[in-house]
Amino acid sequence: MLRIMIMEQKRFTVFSGSSHPELAHEVAKALKRPLGKIKLSTFSCGEKYVALEESVRGEEVFIIQTCTDQNVDRDLMELFLMCDAARLAFASKIHVIVPYFGYARQDKVHKPREPISAKLIADLLVKSGADHVVTLQLHTDQTQGFFDVPVDNLYVHKMFAQYFKKKNLKDVVVVSPDAGGAKNAKKFADVLGAPIAILHKTRPEHNVSAITHVVGDVENKTCIIYDDMIDTGGSMVNAKAALIKHNAKKDVYLCATHAVFSGEASKKLGDANFKEVVMTNSIPIPKNKQFKGLKQLSIAPLLANVIESVIGHKSVSSLFY
Ligand code: R5P
Repeated sequence: MLRIMIMEQKRFTVFSGSSHPELAHEVAKALKRPLGKIKLSTFSCGEKYVALEESVRGEEVFIIQTCTDQNVDRDLMELFLMCDAARLAFASKIHVIVPYFGYARQDKVHKPREPISAKLIADLLVKSGADHVVTLQLHTDQTQGFFDVPVDNLYVHKMFAQYFKKKNLKDVVVVSPDAGGAKNAKKFADVLGAPIAILHKTRPEHNVSAITHVVGDVENKTCIIYDDMIDTGGSMVNAKAALIKHNAKKDVYLCATHAVFSGEASKKLGDANFKEVVMTNSIPIPKNKQFKGLKQLSIAPLLANVIESVIGHKSVSSLFY
């Protein structure tokens, strides 16, 4: 009852960009309110066009736009334009919900004369008018510091753990496919009450990976590989091969937040015969990229709760910690 009163008192509108309308509609349905009217189109020369088709003067605005495979630049440009449109239309606050924040992996200068792309995108977003960013499982937590506005970096390890607990799997070990993901894998493992193993991964070149060592006991264990994203799928397929070579049980599960699924990822994952590949819907997975064993868990209820908490000035972290 209190929640309904808060929702009625506060004026806010949720707008969807064009990258993931299904997710935005699901969020709107959970909030029991329609999405804001917006025109999104592309001129014949490729430039994006955006117009909010209802007044947002004095209102809090939530913009849902994720980054997708091959269209990441288009998705971001559209998001910048949506923020600018809301800013120029006197929105009182602009909350940007970017479930998958593209460019997050380019967060430092590895080699001389490289850009720090993640920082540049963060700056552009803030310059466009974003007052607050909500995102899911940033590639590294410290990327939050790239934004000059508050960031809610949502975690989904509890959501995944709830899903796996129902399976009552025996002798489970959570596997991080690289040292960088170990902290994240540990959080998930702790909720499951399982130990972890860590793979040593090297990258001889962009989008190519090799597993050199397995640290931890995987023999006769049911392995759940846990990561923040699957891009080309190479890391995961190599990880599974390394685990089988080290005598893990043949039923290997794969669990990751962001289904980037670029290039031949879907085919590789389908051919690798994982027992299940469990992802969120932070990125839409088109029909032609789906395969047997793929399972998607929806983040829409979490996002709807986040919006309600923001509007109601309640804790957001308590929703997922
Ligand atoms: C790397 O640090 C990330 O956590 C992922 O493991 C990586 O981006 C996955 O890439 P791919 O699927 O192309 O191997």
